[in-house]
Amino acid sequence: MSAASYDAYVGLHRLTLERQGQAEAFDAIGDRYEEAFPHKEGQLASGAWLAGALPPGSRILDVGCGTGLPTARQLADAGHRVVGVDLSAEMVKLATEQVPGAEFHQGDLADLRDGRLGGPGSYDGIVAFFSLLMLPLAEIPHALRMLHGLLRPEGLLALAMVEADVDDCPIPFLGNTIRVSGYLRDDLRQVVRDAGFEVTGEDSYAYAPASTDVPPEIQLFLHLRRA
Ligand SMILES: C[S@@+](CC[C@H](N)C(=O)[O-])C[C@H]1O[C@@H](n2cnc3c(N)ncnc32)[C@H](O)[C@@H]1O
Repeated sequence: MSAASYDAYVGLHRLTLERQGQAEAFDAIGDRYEEAFPHKEGQLASGAWLAGALPPGSRILDVGCGTGLPTARQLADAGHRVVGVDLSAEMVKLATEQVPGAEFHQGDLADLRDGRLGGPGSYDGIVAFFSLLMLPLAEIPHALRMLHGLLRPEGLLALAMVEADVDDCPIPFLGNTIRVSGYLRDDLRQVVRDAGFEVTGEDSYAYAPASTDVPPEIQLFLHLRRA
């Protein structure tokens, strides 16, 4: 699976229209996202792994960075150079305010394939916490391949997904509707290996969000190395 095949996927699926609803939902959710997910032990532990496994000053891409909290701030506080990207202009605004030590850009992660935030091998690390699950299932392998290409050899990816066997499924989320996809954990491991990653660590957490408008979930954290 190559960059050209992601281009073909994007051309075929008219992504601009499909993304509009996701962006509008997260623009509307804004900092209420923090209230719904107050306990972030798994996310903090996975961020700490990435922060500690790379030498200070490493260049790290935060894909679907949300409000910047806790992850972009955690990585910036550890002395890394953090570049965040998010589809939602409101999320980028919050992240820029909350993490002045990092740089943030509004955009679709699929557009990272054009090299606008860095070419092949330009990142030491990438974090993608609960952002790839917002893509249709058929797109996720393309996105993982693209992230693989943005990493330098031996570069690290911290990936968080929710364990579920669903494809582009609409769910109510904090008064909005978002669409989510997911894999069962064996399938997720296979998908990341097929994208060229070695699994170096894994954790799972049962998570009950603070809001009754968000269902309980099993969160999966994978620690991956560009093989
Ligand atoms: C569930 S939130 C996770 C936020 C943050 N990574 C965290 O874990 O706290 C998903 C984020 O991904 C962003 N997002 C969704 N689809 C995206 C896309 N195609 N490109 C970039 N960001 C996207 C949303 O706007 C939202 O901020």
